Amino acid sequence: MIPLALVPVLLAMLAGVANANATCNVTSPCSLSSAPCCSEFGFCGRDNFCLGGCNPYASKGVNSCRPEPLCKDSTYTFADKSRILSNSTLFDGNSTKYDWVIDKGSVLDNSGNIALTLADASGGTRISSTKYVHYGDITATIKTGRWNGVVTAFITMSDIKDEIDWEFPGSKTTQGQSNFFWQGLIPTTKTNGATHDGISDTFANFHDYTVSWGPDQLSWSVDGNVVRTVKKSDTYDAAGVPHYPSTPSRIQLSIWPAGVEGSPPGTVDWAGGMINWDDPDFKAAGHFYAIVQKVTVKCINAQVIDPAANITSYIYSGNSSSNPSIVYSNYSTMVNGARSMLPVAGLSGTVLTAFVMGLLMALNAMLL
Ligand SMILES: *[C@@H]1O[C@H](CO)[C@@H](O)[C@H](O)[C@H]1NC(C)=O
Ligand SMILES: *[C@@H]1O[C@H](CO)[C@@H](O)[C@H](O)[C@H]1NC(C)=O
Ligand SMILES: *[C@@H]1O[C@H](CO)[C@@H](O)[C@H](O)[C@H]1NC(C)=O
Ligand SMILES: *[C@@H]1O[C@H](CO)[C@@H](O)[C@H](O)[C@H]1NC(C)=O
Ligand SMILES: *[C@@H]1O[C@H](CO)[C@@H](O)[C@H](O)[C@H]1NC(C)=O
Ligand SMILES: *[C@@H]1O[C@H](CO)[C@@H](O)[C@H](O)[C@H]1NC(C)=O
Ligand SMILES: *[C@@H]1O[C@H](CO)[C@@H](O)[C@H](O)[C@H]1NC(C)=O
Repeated sequence: MIPLALVPVLLAMLAGVANANATCNVTSPCSLSSAPCCSEFGFCGRDNFCLGGCNPYASKGVNSCRPEPLCKDSTYTFADKSRILSNSTLFDGNSTKYDWVIDKGSVLDNSGNIALTLADASGGTRISSTKYVHYGDITATIKTGRWNGVVTAFITMSDIKDEIDWEFPGSKTTQGQSNFFWQGLIPTTKTNGATHDGISDTFANFHDYTVSWGPDQLSWSVDGNVVRTVKKSDTYDAAGVPHYPSTPSRIQLSIWPAGVEGSPPGTVDWAGGMINWDDPDFKAAGHFYAIVQKVTVKCINAQVIDPAANITSYIYSGNSSSNPSIVYSNYSTMVNGARSMLPVAGLSGTVLTAFVMGLLMALNAMLL
């Protein structure tokens, strides 16, 4: 029932990312200076491997990945396609130039909106925001697919795989499903997924699907009505570690084929069965599709940001993936940018980390 976790794996396979590059994960990080960054797909490389999706704890150093572009209040509409970069591997880290990158597949114009397309069994489309959100209200106004085996999704995904989902298995056009993950972990004792029924035809109608993500509470809404709330305090494990998404995340919208050969049977069932490639909608359009009208982001920064500090980005600090520390910085987010300046504020997951602040103050004091 939780196939989105498989998406990166599928995308990696389908995108043919597997080449001679070393694999990487938190226990086996990248080791070469020439290929220091662990991409979202778990391969070591440089340049755009160090941008969106780069896992700081699986990279050579916690500083190997480029800083993550800061959240900005925005309403993204799609009449102007020049704000979407057609191929994410060409991205240079300039989030002022592009709002979205296409990680896979292609988008088409649909009356000033965009259609995410799914043309074949190895297909599907995913777009990612160039900016990150480290808490915020994010609303996507979309029409989903309506075909067995075809999944439409609107999620947030962090570089260490904290994830918050709205998902729409195509066989159910009056239902949305909410879910969340902490560092990619699927809880073994319970599922974090929930279903929300009674939405009027999600294929025919635009609805507003919202994720309201704060440091202490997470909720999902449909057309402004909250349908589910999760409190961070309810996610602590026996060891006292909160399994709550708490790291800066990109916004991703996708359509993907779950009902295809090679998908786990549970995923196929969840998505409503195998895809019918003879479906009249598919024949007529030449692809399956989901329509995105707009995405609205209202940032909720975990700390007040002084405009004079020229903050551009979030970076990870510290080595512990079990307690990630997120720091605001004025580092360049560009792929070739310098990284010689100091971070200017610290916070951990959700709370200010006295340790990081102390460290920064000490470093500042040393340099001043
Ligand atoms: C991490 O990568 C190493 C080397 O490829 C592999 O042996 C190990 O099983 C991986 N660990 C996890 C948790 O995936
Ligand atoms: C890995 O990927 C990078 C692209 O970032 C490429 O330059 C490099 O040659 C690849 N191969 C290895 C072995 O790292
Ligand atoms: C994106 O660019 C890369 C490198 O130039 C290329 O290998 C890949 O096929 C392109 N992807 C698409 C969807 O065009
Ligand atoms: C980023 O793009 C904007 C808009 O195109 C441009 O004005 C700016 O100079 C670029 N920044 C860098 C560092 O290249
Ligand atoms: C912010 O940028 C301006 C313009 O480049 C610069 O004058 C100022 O010193 C910067 N502020 C800080 C705190 O770095
Ligand atoms: C990470 O751990 C290594 C080894 O313990 C240490 O040398 C390094 O300073 C740590 N880095 C940070 C950013 O804490
Ligand atoms: C970044 O912050 C450092 C430390 O406050 C400051 O010295 C530097 O000028 C800042 N850089 C920019 C581009 O604002």
